Amino acid sequence: MNQEKREHWKSHMGFVLAAAGSAIGLGNIWRFPYIAGENGGAAFVLLYLICIVLVGLPVMLCEFVVGRSTEKDPVGAYSDLSRRNVFWRLVGFMGVASGFLILSYYSVVGGWTLAYILEGATGRFSQLSSPDLAWGNFLKFTGHPYWPIVFHGFFIALCVGTVHSGVRKGIERWCDILMPALFVLLLILIVRAVTLPGARAGVAFLLKPDFSKITTQAFLVALGHAFFSLSLGMGAMITYGSYVEKKENLWKATAWVAGLDTMVALLAGLAIFPAVFAIGFDPAVGPGLIFKVLPAVFARMPGGAYLWGTLFFVLLAIAALTSGFSLLEVVTAYFVDEKGYPRHKVSIIAGIAIFLLGIPCALSFGPMQDVKFFNRTVFDSLDFLTSNILLPLGGLLICIFAGWVWGVKPALEEANAGAEGMRCKAVLGAAWKFLVRYVSPVAVVLVFLFSLGLISF
Ligand code: PHE
Repeated sequence: MNQEKREHWKSHMGFVLAAAGSAIGLGNIWRFPYIAGENGGAAFVLLYLICIVLVGLPVMLCEFVVGRSTEKDPVGAYSDLSRRNVFWRLVGFMGVASGFLILSYYSVVGGWTLAYILEGATGRFSQLSSPDLAWGNFLKFTGHPYWPIVFHGFFIALCVGTVHSGVRKGIERWCDILMPALFVLLLILIVRAVTLPGARAGVAFLLKPDFSKITTQAFLVALGHAFFSLSLGMGAMITYGSYVEKKENLWKATAWVAGLDTMVALLAGLAIFPAVFAIGFDPAVGPGLIFKVLPAVFARMPGGAYLWGTLFFVLLAIAALTSGFSLLEVVTAYFVDEKGYPRHKVSIIAGIAIFLLGIPCALSFGPMQDVKFFNRTVFDSLDFLTSNILLPLGGLLICIFAGWVWGVKPALEEANAGAEGMRCKAVLGAAWKFLVRYVSPVAVVLVFLFSLGLISF
């Protein structure tokens, strides 16, 4: 066991920015805009907001509370609060394993974003004036036998470099710089997009509700995405919560982190769709939206492909990196807290292991595209296993744990430490108790069964 005094975040803002950095990621900028587009625009946004409030907020508070009360990694936290119960230790371990698995494929996409910064900066986008050309370029890059591995390694190295330096000097310091940069970049891109002639149709696409698309299916997509987007269900927020001091108000932090995450998802749509419409491209291309349509949009934008293309992929890379830090931190904290290994060694060894597991993921679009498990490539299998199984399961279990096993009373006491002066604490506490015990678990079970294809609507 590690005997040293636990490191704490230097400031409340540093903690909020780091946790928001974890939450704001590829899920916000790459995935949210296209699933909102596919599922009814503003109507979907409304459903998403409901999911954030009814499930996202309560579960995030659970994670922060479990982390802060034990000051441990997920395995240690569950273990302490359950009096070393083997089952709950395993649940914590599942979180650590999820962090490991998610980072191995997340960093592959992170590597693409780094490569695309270079493509933008070297003027490559100016030659990709149609979506077909842009798509051909994307397939050529992602199918290459070694470049995706090189950039994947580079992405991991950046995460290791940060986590290696510790919570304050690494994660907090970088998030303090990168997150404001992300907000500024996003605002610049929005102003550029909405002032293009013809951008109005794109704004309408995102904001005009189509209530016929509000189906149970859309609801479940929204809930599943809320989980991934808020980094819930695998102990990232337990780990970040474990570095928070008792004097901080966790209610407020939860509201800030979820609020910033949701805002960035909406703003990303506002930076993307108006530009796509203004240039006259099809917005409904789904997952390929960013790599297929956007380079071609940048190629035609007044102001040049160099500038806008590069800025956009810098934005995406920052978002991916700050999420990558939290994924690596979960794995690192486990070995530091439970095994007492030194952080600098653990972060490097974990980074190498994740890099190696990521190699088949990086090759899933080229040389290894025919290697399949249940009809899914290595990349898709890991994505499916984590997003559709491990995260919802982890989320369900933390609700059961806080709501029924550890108990809402000690959980609320912890949540209220540091919130002494806050008004309406009693009402919030009662609402939280009800949501965590009943609403969130039921909602998560529904998503779970749906995403496994065991129920359909
Ligand atoms: N929330 C991140 C995103 O939206 C992904 C993530 C999931 C990060 C789980 C950490 C833990 O991209």
